Amino acid sequence: MATADQVKALVKSHAEGDDERFYAVALQVAARAARSGHSGMAQELRDLVDSLRSRPTSRSAARRPTLVVQPRGELAGLLAVTYPETILADLVLDERLQARLYRVVLEQRQRDVLVTQGFAPERRLLLIGPPGTGKTITARALAGELRLPLFSIRLDSLITKMMGETAAKLRLIFDALAETRGVYLFDEVDALAGERAQGNDVGEIRRVLNSFLQFLEQDPSDSLIVAASNHPQLLDRALFRRFESVIEYPLPSPAVAQQVIRNRLASVPIGGIDWKTVRDASRSHSHAELTMAAEAAAKAAILTDDKVTTRGLVDALSDRLTDMDR
Ligand SMILES: Nc1ncnc2c1ncn2[C@@H]1O[C@H](COP(=O)(O)OP(=O)(O)OP(=O)(O)O)[C@@H](O)[C@H]1O
Ligand SMILES: [Mg+2]
Repeated sequence: MATADQVKALVKSHAEGDDERFYAVALQVAARAARSGHSGMAQELRDLVDSLRSRPTSRSAARRPTLVVQPRGELAGLLAVTYPETILADLVLDERLQARLYRVVLEQRQRDVLVTQGFAPERRLLLIGPPGTGKTITARALAGELRLPLFSIRLDSLITKMMGETAAKLRLIFDALAETRGVYLFDEVDALAGERAQGNDVGEIRRVLNSFLQFLEQDPSDSLIVAASNHPQLLDRALFRRFESVIEYPLPSPAVAQQVIRNRLASVPIGGIDWKTVRDASRSHSHAELTMAAEAAAKAAILTDDKVTTRGLVDALSDRLTDMDR
């Protein structure tokens, strides 16, 4: 039957309104029951979880009010907090990336179980890939899934505004990270790459990078650290080593591209679209460009009281290409 830890985890996940974690622990109880010969009870429990899980609650669960935390004093200028409602299902991801991200969420939800068995959940992620492929929105979705606050740190502005003080400010951020569990997004982390600095800034950037590496290594918190960059070639090798996972964001495949456009057009009338033609016109567009092209085509259709057409989409996609892409 259930162990004391499992009962505690059930009560805790219920109190936190974390349904997924609750069901995951219930399934562990079922597995344990099956192993000790109570197969009837194990099956009943599994069926119960399946039937409850199939109810469409995931989005409403994500909307439940979260305890609101606001950074104060000096921190307020360094961190912006939001409470995202985005979930992973809002993103169109290839299978590999989707599996990767759901694993992060599962490990976080089940962290108590992992810790009692002597394992630590993944909590330092480095997301790399071209602009507009979903790195920043992934941080939002992880926060939304885990119902944690998202603290965004703008390293580039931090460094340019506060030269000489950045290492001290970083300490404040890492103190907050240990104090308030959340998803902490270090976006555009290549701002710390020495190659981008000029003249006198080189030494300062180097010092900041070294402090950042040290803080990362010593951070004992339960927070998730997500760093993102679209210039991975500029990043210091030592930085890569500080992250358990380096996750690559590719440009969308034709199938993913079609789905991104379809999702954005979900609320508007569309004509008989020739998707093959649209997919061909989508080549070399990022997810962000596809979204914007779909929005442009949708608005044009609404304002002419018409449906979205293949031509409208192809034109909007072509408008989004810069001369260099052509
Ligand atoms: N995988 C995706 N599925 C659906 N929409 C996406 C996806 N990726 C990006 N988008 C759309 O593009 C917008 C921009 O994406 P995001 O800001 O996450 O890109 P990024 O990878 O962080 O880019 P950058 O490197 O320029 O910061 C999102 O707000 C969303 O509308
Ligand atoms: Mg981004």
